Amino acid sequence: MPIETTQNIWHNGDLIPWEKAQIHVMSHVIHYGSSVFEGIRCYKQAEGAGIFRLSEHMQRLLDSAKIYRMELGFTLQQLTAAVVDVVEANGVAPCYIRPIAFRGYGEIGVNPVANPMEVYIANFPWGKYVPGNDGADVCVSSWNRLAPNTMPSLAKAGANYMNSQLIRMEAGINGYSEGIALDTNGYLSEGSGENLFLVRGGTLYTTPLANSVLSGITRDSVLTLARQMGIPIVEQALPREMLYICDEAFFTGTAVEVTHLRSVDRILIGDGTIGPITQALHKAFFDIVNGLAPDRYNWLTPVKVREAVAV
Ligand SMILES: Cc1ncc(COP(=O)(O)O)c(C=O)c1O
Repeated sequence: MPIETTQNIWHNGDLIPWEKAQIHVMSHVIHYGSSVFEGIRCYKQAEGAGIFRLSEHMQRLLDSAKIYRMELGFTLQQLTAAVVDVVEANGVAPCYIRPIAFRGYGEIGVNPVANPMEVYIANFPWGKYVPGNDGADVCVSSWNRLAPNTMPSLAKAGANYMNSQLIRMEAGINGYSEGIALDTNGYLSEGSGENLFLVRGGTLYTTPLANSVLSGITRDSVLTLARQMGIPIVEQALPREMLYICDEAFFTGTAVEVTHLRSVDRILIGDGTIGPITQALHKAFFDIVNGLAPDRYNWLTPVKVREAVAV
């Protein structure tokens, strides 16, 4: 989907015009994928808007950078303030926020350390990611997720998304809206850009971090809501066939939010409609982000936006 531009992008401490946010083709990141990034949603509220779990997202950016020995030169407080600045300057809500840090222009060669770090934060209007409120029809991918001790799954690094692209393209070509990848041991891992949850017999199952998943912030939010609702939670390695015999299944992620799965590999999940536990978690999540329920976990950072843009 085409990007709708906004006016400003934050770059290394300053707001610059959108069209000036450019890099040289010989920048290290272009050749070797040396970037880490985040995706954050800002929700429209009755008054102003709220950025969802800003601090946790920017901490994950710092964690991703730390894994790759990248020094961003900004503290967590500076980075969260920068996000608020750019969102308020652009005045667009609801929106998607994309902070990215990468190795810039300087030296060619795999060893990246002599290249300067560049940090940018952009935001723009963005709508639904997995189409259809009727549930997503997905498949198990023929591609595995990243093997342990190869590309670190806990780092949200640009290079990881070459694997995601293979999963996503294959799913699309075969008529599915998304693919679920297994880890290299054949256990369920995650979607190309989403964490996976299953429900069976009233228990909520999700794959643990050791199964090559990103530590999703929406995943954590759903686990928090489920805990509070008294839903039993099991985080354990899950065999592929759990997908076919579960009562409910859903994806979580900043892009997909909470999206229920209608079928996997053309096998209907339950009766294909959103199940009661998914529905309850979906409602609890959207009530908070849309400002219909109290923000009891302090998940939203308020921002002042001048105008609302429908997406
Ligand atoms: C591979 C992958 N897994 C899971 C997620 C979900 O994470 P979050 O809920 O923090 O957006 C994402 C999205 O960032 C992702 O790219």
